[in-house]
Amino acid sequence: MKDTAKDAQVLSVANQKGGVGKTTSAVTLAAALARLKKRVLVVDLDPHACASIHLRVYPEHQQYSIYDIFSREPEEWAGLWQKIRVQRGEKSIDVASANILLSDLDADLREKPGKGIILKQALALVRSEYDYIVLDCPPHLSILLVNALIASDLLIIPIQTDFLALHGLKLLFDTINLLNKVLPEPIKYKALATMFDRRTRASQRVLELMERKMGEGMFKSVIGIDTRFREASAQGRVIYELGDSRGGKEYESVAKEIIAL
Ligand SMILES: Nc1ncnc2c1ncn2[C@@H]1O[C@H](COP(=O)(O)OP(=O)(O)OP(=O)(O)O)[C@@H](O)[C@H]1O
Ligand SMILES: [Mg+2]
Repeated sequence: MKDTAKDAQVLSVANQKGGVGKTTSAVTLAAALARLKKRVLVVDLDPHACASIHLRVYPEHQQYSIYDIFSREPEEWAGLWQKIRVQRGEKSIDVASANILLSDLDADLREKPGKGIILKQALALVRSEYDYIVLDCPPHLSILLVNALIASDLLIIPIQTDFLALHGLKLLFDTINLLNKVLPEPIKYKALATMFDRRTRASQRVLELMERKMGEGMFKSVIGIDTRFREASAQGRVIYELGDSRGGKEYESVAKEIIAL
């Protein structure tokens, strides 16, 4: 993973299934990496802007968002990045917020050549300023998801440990396989088991099944159910700002796995 020693590694968090913990993973991992002294940029690619709101960067207060990168010309990107990024808190995480206009992007860009590599090209301008750039993706196939997958050095796939978990994964792997046909290198990915309920045999069985299926393609750390995540997002805080928690420690151990890759 370390081909460009100094430049940021781009981590996209995606799964075409909704509500599996993508945004929670993106935001908490970003915070965990920042606590480990890494410089982090979070890019919110979901028109609903949940990651932005979770980080207390409210779209209605932002004059600029990541939408501007997609809607304006490359010559303007350098100047735009200065306006789009908002610094959050003293444990420095920068945030490029989303905007509802992102939901029109597939139509807006329909005729645009090279529309899948816009984000990769634009991130190249800020990569040297960070150790990690975390992309929170929307739960459906769109030009935003394609841009994220093409831009990423590692795709993180949160998988909820319940019986319907593997349902929906096929959609994502169809997308990955399609892109792999045109990309110079196949997309690297690692699955992350989320919302694991230690008390239930069913949850344990699903985890075993995942581990058998994914093997090395899975993080060793597992994220359990922790009600603090919901509390944190409702307050526009990351879980670490609520004190010690099991969930916080688990994401910290994922962050350490990422750093060690
Ligand atoms: N480990 C966890 N334990 C308990 N609740 C969790 C956990 N992870 C996420 N949640 C909660 O589950 C809900 C869905 O999580 P989240 O928004 O991260 O999923 P998502 O995949 O981003 O959803 P969407 O597909 O809508 O973007 C949220 O209310 C979140 O607080
Ligand atoms: Mg989300």
